[in-house]
Amino acid sequence: MQHLIEFFGRTHLVLLHFPIALALSAALVELWRAWVMKGKGARYRPSSAGTLMFVLAMLGTIVSVITGLVLGFDGGTRVDLHRILGIVSGVLMFITWFMLVSVMRNEHKSGVGYLMLLCVSAASIGATGHFGGNLTHGEGFLTKPLKELFGIKEDPLVLEAEAMGISRASVEMFELSVLPIMERSCVECHGPDEAEDDIRLDTLVYVLDDRVQTVRRGSPDESELVYRIELPHDDPDIMPPEGDGEPLTQAEIDVIRHWIESLGQ
Ligand code: HEC
Repeated sequence: MQHLIEFFGRTHLVLLHFPIALALSAALVELWRAWVMKGKGARYRPSSAGTLMFVLAMLGTIVSVITGLVLGFDGGTRVDLHRILGIVSGVLMFITWFMLVSVMRNEHKSGVGYLMLLCVSAASIGATGHFGGNLTHGEGFLTKPLKELFGIKEDPLVLEAEAMGISRASVEMFELSVLPIMERSCVECHGPDEAEDDIRLDTLVYVLDDRVQTVRRGSPDESELVYRIELPHDDPDIMPPEGDGEPLTQAEIDVIRHWIESLGQ
């Protein structure tokens, strides 16, 4: 059963293309028709081809939302914008559908309201697809070749900050002020060679590794790392351990505290 559910969820990656193409096509067909009708001085009414596309797009949207929710059920937090937009698109399609039904029922009613809702829904579905693409291909996948074409260089600090979910200033502060302290007092035991207690303090990725939780972003007082360096000098738990290096100075501790605080912003 579990496997079937998993399969069902994964069909999302195939099915999602239908509502995107159909909703955008329906919007284009209807926009074109509205323009032609206006040229003739006639009132806009939905075309049958556009209506068929819209109905298929709506069915595709429903199926995509359901399979997407199943697929993302145990997904991480990054799915959120895509997920919310997907649900919003589903709701928008329903409202558009009600509007279409009311236009069809009343021959004298203009379809302009329907047309506008259809365009908004199609845009929402397009945006959902875009953020979904970022999830599967990585952020900026679409525009990367263009940036390369025009020689726009990505700032490596910004890229690292984005990957870690912190600000560029925090990355810079780490590289310039925190890392030198770690390298002098800690990396000998918490680095690529030793990794005492499975802790590495030689790169940002390891320091912020959520699995070891040495650093609690934004809260120095709740960070094990700060607790260890602030212990009395004769405490057996102090870092670096007694006899294996000088305790950190107050200035160094302040730098680390300040940096951890900056992570919460
Ligand atoms: C001489 C080797 C050595 C040095 C230098 C050293 N450590 Fe450690 N560290 C250890 C060992 C061994 C442990 C595991 C035993 C323990 O928890 O006390 C440890 C544990 C820790 C822990 C506990 C993690 C946990 O949650 O259990 C933290 C945090 C830590 N070190 C931070 C630091 C920091 C920060 C520095 C530099 C200021 C540093 N250490 C320098 C050897 C070292």
